[in-house]
Amino acid sequence: MNYRHAFHAGNFADLQKHAILLALLEALKAQTPTLSVIDTHAGAGGYDLGGEMARRSGEAEAGIFRLIESGDAPAVFAPLIARFRAMNGGQDGPLYPGSPLLIAGGLRRDDRYTACELRDDDFDLLRRSLAPYAFAQASKADGFETAAARAGRGGRAFVLIDPPFERPDDYGRIVGVTRDVLARDPDAVLAIWTPLKDLETFDAFIRALETVTDDALVAEVRLRPLLDPMKMNGSAMVMVGAPASIEPAVAAATEWIVQRLGQKGGSARIWRTKAA
Ligand SMILES: C[S@@+](CC[C@H](N)C(=O)[O-])C[C@H]1O[C@@H](n2cnc3c(N)ncnc32)[C@H](O)[C@@H]1O
Repeated sequence: MNYRHAFHAGNFADLQKHAILLALLEALKAQTPTLSVIDTHAGAGGYDLGGEMARRSGEAEAGIFRLIESGDAPAVFAPLIARFRAMNGGQDGPLYPGSPLLIAGGLRRDDRYTACELRDDDFDLLRRSLAPYAFAQASKADGFETAAARAGRGGRAFVLIDPPFERPDDYGRIVGVTRDVLARDPDAVLAIWTPLKDLETFDAFIRALETVTDDALVAEVRLRPLLDPMKMNGSAMVMVGAPASIEPAVAAATEWIVQRLGQKGGSARIWRTKAA
């Protein structure tokens, strides 16, 4: 496993994923007395954007710092900006919260949170990030297996799936774990992040997902036309079981990113695999 999220923290894809994650958490808390959140690919918990990896990639400069500087960020980004500033003592940077700190900071005492990470170095950072939260558990275990095993064991399951896509079977494992989680908890909600490189790969994934659920909300950030399959041309959030009330926030985040961070020919697409 070579992937280090520290290179990518705070980039355009994190903005979409994390703004939607926070909006979904709030919507689900309003509906559900107890949540059991499983973060299948948690990473380090939080990131230093002034560190060598982030500075080398420059992705945060083109992401969170552009968002902050823009002055026209829609309301959907307000919770993420607030959490980013809180982590930095009220200032803009250099620390950026990953999904574990965003989730743990948004949960209630009776909710449960399991964060999975396989890399030794990122797991040590994750464990330290989550130490203040009694309801949160850092687990050095495979996230797909953990989600399938934990769903349906108390609390409504909310599963964030955010793999590095280094392995060719990641798409197949996402479909498998979606099937297994829904079998154990039909009320479960899943939020899946994917890169957008070429359309065939993404279409094949959606077609496979449709064999296990007929209720997916898809939000595509196409930064530019998907012409070069060797490039990450955008990213998508695919949500299974998401409440309809989330759609305006999903659209606002996705459209702003394309308009302000995208290139000529970019587009935002928000659609459901079936009519809601
Ligand atoms: C994209 S990063 C996660 C970023 C994080 N979700 C966030 O938003 O802040 C993916 C992480 O998954 C870890 N990983 C890869 N395969 C895994 C697996 N099967 N189970 C758990 N973690 C895995 C990688 O080491 C990497 O740190």
